[in-house]
Amino acid sequence: MIITDSEEKISELCARWRSEGLSVGFVPTMGAFHKGHLSLVEIAVASSDRVVVSIFVNPSQFGPGEDLEKYPRTIESDCKFVEELGASAVFTPRADVVYPPGFSTSVSVAGITEGLCGAARPGHFNGVTTVCAVLFGIVKPDLAVFGMKDAQQLAVVKRMVSDLRMGIEIVAAPIIREADGLAMSSRNQYLSREERNQASLISTGMMKAENLFHMGERNSEILRKEFVNTLKDAPLLRVQYIETVNPETMLGVEEIDDRVLLAVSVFAGKTRLIDNILIESEV
Ligand code: PAF
Repeated sequence: MIITDSEEKISELCARWRSEGLSVGFVPTMGAFHKGHLSLVEIAVASSDRVVVSIFVNPSQFGPGEDLEKYPRTIESDCKFVEELGASAVFTPRADVVYPPGFSTSVSVAGITEGLCGAARPGHFNGVTTVCAVLFGIVKPDLAVFGMKDAQQLAVVKRMVSDLRMGIEIVAAPIIREADGLAMSSRNQYLSREERNQASLISTGMMKAENLFHMGERNSEILRKEFVNTLKDAPLLRVQYIETVNPETMLGVEEIDDRVLLAVSVFAGKTRLIDNILIESEV
């Protein structure tokens, strides 16, 4: 497996593979891998001839006072994991390679970025779409894999790729959870033991809301209340948002038809955790 921080080297490698008729899968990441990331790489390896994983903690998607400096960086072990899974290359660019002097472009997707994490983290999605556009331009993948845990990010990237005719298939990977239901996240390692224990209530609350739906409840407000109620005896948890939205447009849904995305953001102490569940009628 090739590990490089050189834009020229990775783009030449990908161009060579394409010229040999090999498909290129891409997994953009910020590193600090857990089983969730590894599942993205597994999907890419299963569906492409060659797989590139990028590891870049993208400064432009962090707001002031967020965890850019303390975001975990574990490049060596990350590379070992993805090599074992069969990735062909890891691209670890420096910030001045991604954003060279004179870089002046920002890719901004309207509408879909306004609510949920877009409202909670102003500018975040411009950072995500800009870095993804740059990385897509360097790697020129046939497909790219994104996790469903970041459901809004997934929807925003799909929109950008479609609007800008980038010709990349965006593949959605299911959320991977710990045994007690907590969605895997690089930020889980910030949690104290007590915060970690209480954080398992996030998935419990979502499942309780889902149960209500399966019992016939279609009023979003009642599902949201069920979630909030589940967290009421967890003093270290603070709900930032709990929304019921259309999974493609991220627009709010009040009376549910047969499908809704319940998306939540909860602070456990100072750590912000996001999670979601796609609630659907059983056929
Ligand atoms: O999901 C992430 O890790 C990041 O937002 C991404 C897609 C790698 C862009 O920096």
